[in-house]
Amino acid sequence: MNLRPFLAADQPQVIALWHACGLTRPWNDPAKDIARKLTVQPELFLVIEDAGPIVASAMFGYDGHRGWVNYLAVAPSHRGRGLARQLMAEGEARLTALGCPKLSLQVRAGNAQAIAFYEHLGYATDEAVSLGKRLIADQ
Ligand SMILES: CC(C)(COP(=O)(O)OP(=O)(O)OC[C@H]1O[C@@H](n2cnc3c(N)ncnc32)[C@H](O)[C@@H]1OP(=O)(O)O)[C@@H](O)C(=O)NCCC(=O)NCCS
Repeated sequence: MNLRPFLAADQPQVIALWHACGLTRPWNDPAKDIARKLTVQPELFLVIEDAGPIVASAMFGYDGHRGWVNYLAVAPSHRGRGLARQLMAEGEARLTALGCPKLSLQVRAGNAQAIAFYEHLGYATDEAVSLGKRLIADQ
């Protein structure tokens, strides 16, 4: 297993991984999401490869106030081996090195598995309501 930053050649595999993990939505174009990330802290977009194939991903970022993680995904064939824990630990270390005081994240309503995973890693639900406003439509 090799944890490293995303490379352009990884894109088809990473998008396939996100589809396999149920993370894609019609209103988010994954290729555009990747292109945008490559313009801001691309070194915080991490993947794990298993002798070639990409088997896990996590997209971290620091906005100067909070760190964020999106697109945490582990291939179903590779779950339960500590890969997500490894990615989260690496992202936390990189954000801490940047002076980021807190890592926040959003989980889609109904994704109880992900919530339980994050709670297991020490994350707690914030008493806040998440709001958003689309600025650029992907379609
Ligand atoms: C959630 C997900 C990333 C976990 O990946 P994983 O590689 O299987 O997790 P790990 O093996 O690193 O697990 C790390 C720890 O969390 C625990 N854990 C994993 N899933 C858990 C769950 N659903 N509930 C409780 N604990 C869980 C493991 O037992 C392990 O504990 P330990 O290290 O103390 O022994 C994976 O299931 C996934 O890709 N899900 C679909 C995509 C998704 O929902 N992503 C989150 C978007 S917000």
